Amino acid sequence: MRIISIANQKGGCGKTTSAVNLAAALAGNGRKVLLIDFDPQAHATVGLNVEAKKNIYHCLSKLTPQKAALQDIIVNVTTNFDIAPSEIILTTLEQELANEIGRESRLQETLASILNSNYDYIIIDCPPNLGILTVNAICASNEVIIPVEPSRFSLEGLGRLVDIINLIKDRLDHRVEFKVLVTIFDSRLKYAFKILADLRNRIRENMFSTIIHVNVKLKESQSFGCSVLDFDKYSRGAKDYYSLSKEVIKAEVPSEPLKAKIQELIEEHLPKLTEITVKLNLDLPGAREVYVLGDFNDWRTDKDAAMADDNGRWVKSLKLGAGLYRYRFIVDGKWITDPQNPFQEKNPYGEFDSLLKIEES
Ligand SMILES: Nc1ncnc2c1ncn2[C@@H]1O[C@H](COP(=O)(O)OP(=O)(O)OP(=O)(O)O)[C@@H](O)[C@H]1O
Ligand SMILES: [Mg+2]
Repeated sequence: MRIISIANQKGGCGKTTSAVNLAAALAGNGRKVLLIDFDPQAHATVGLNVEAKKNIYHCLSKLTPQKAALQDIIVNVTTNFDIAPSEIILTTLEQELANEIGRESRLQETLASILNSNYDYIIIDCPPNLGILTVNAICASNEVIIPVEPSRFSLEGLGRLVDIINLIKDRLDHRVEFKVLVTIFDSRLKYAFKILADLRNRIRENMFSTIIHVNVKLKESQSFGCSVLDFDKYSRGAKDYYSLSKEVIKAEVPSEPLKAKIQELIEEHLPKLTEITVKLNLDLPGAREVYVLGDFNDWRTDKDAAMADDNGRWVKSLKLGAGLYRYRFIVDGKWITDPQNPFQEKNPYGEFDSLLKIEES
């Protein structure tokens, strides 16, 4: 599962348009997609004519009396395309999270409940600021797409956003890749070409080759409550977002059979590393879902991190080479430290990671 945030603190640069139409184009390519509207303005929700009693706020807030599970607020838009809607009440979450420890990871914890679902992509539409909602979205993602409308001001904002992404990488030890998407490109304007050339000179490897041109059908489709692909599939807007989806799909990790083939080749050609099997276990008879995340799996909450339920004892075998590993468990969406392991170290959230040392011998 790939989790991609669409973020830029600059307003009106095409975040929502890109989130909605990329999600629709990926779904059109047979991928199962969940779009999370994470902007209190709720433009994606409204732009897709979605009406809902509960929204993403009710999944994340601990104070609301109307608490809901993520699965219960999801609304189907079209084939393969679902949305977790938003509403203005989401603004209050910023105040609620302000004084909380681990506030950056509330969305990540909520998403843990659907990691075993059959979504191929989660796309998160962020609000136009670098507040706690955007930080939560970036922390929950593996990738960030930054829509940039060619203008001087958008380039200045780009630097700040990249700083934040790097800060999250360093401080929270969370790997996120970012890529710039040039949007609202007006080919009648000379300076638009100049800015595009400047960007390509500086960060070509962090840019999509697809460019989203100005196209009135993108605006029109919003007022008709659908994606541009459903509104006018022959329009330039539809073609641009289709081409973007192909570029995104191209970066998918190899399929399981191909992975197995690559693994076979590695094993054949590389000298064997000394590894030992470590068995972690946790007695929690009432738990529904348990993951173990650590340095050995890049702290990714995917199916490889899931522990198996052996009559209330959750178990996981790991093959590890020599080294020092930090790890924690996620039990039904909540982080916990291994209660059986006395070796711990404080992490940037003020909580404790368990330590596992594998000696060379
Ligand atoms: N390629 C495009 N061609 C024409 N109009 C566009 C294009 N992309 C976006 N727009 C229009 O520009 C406006 C802003 O776009 P959008 O809502 O996607 O930006 P945003 O970054 O999500 O804004 P906000 O920061 O307020 O969330 C909308 O009216 C949208 O229809
Ligand atoms: Mg928006």
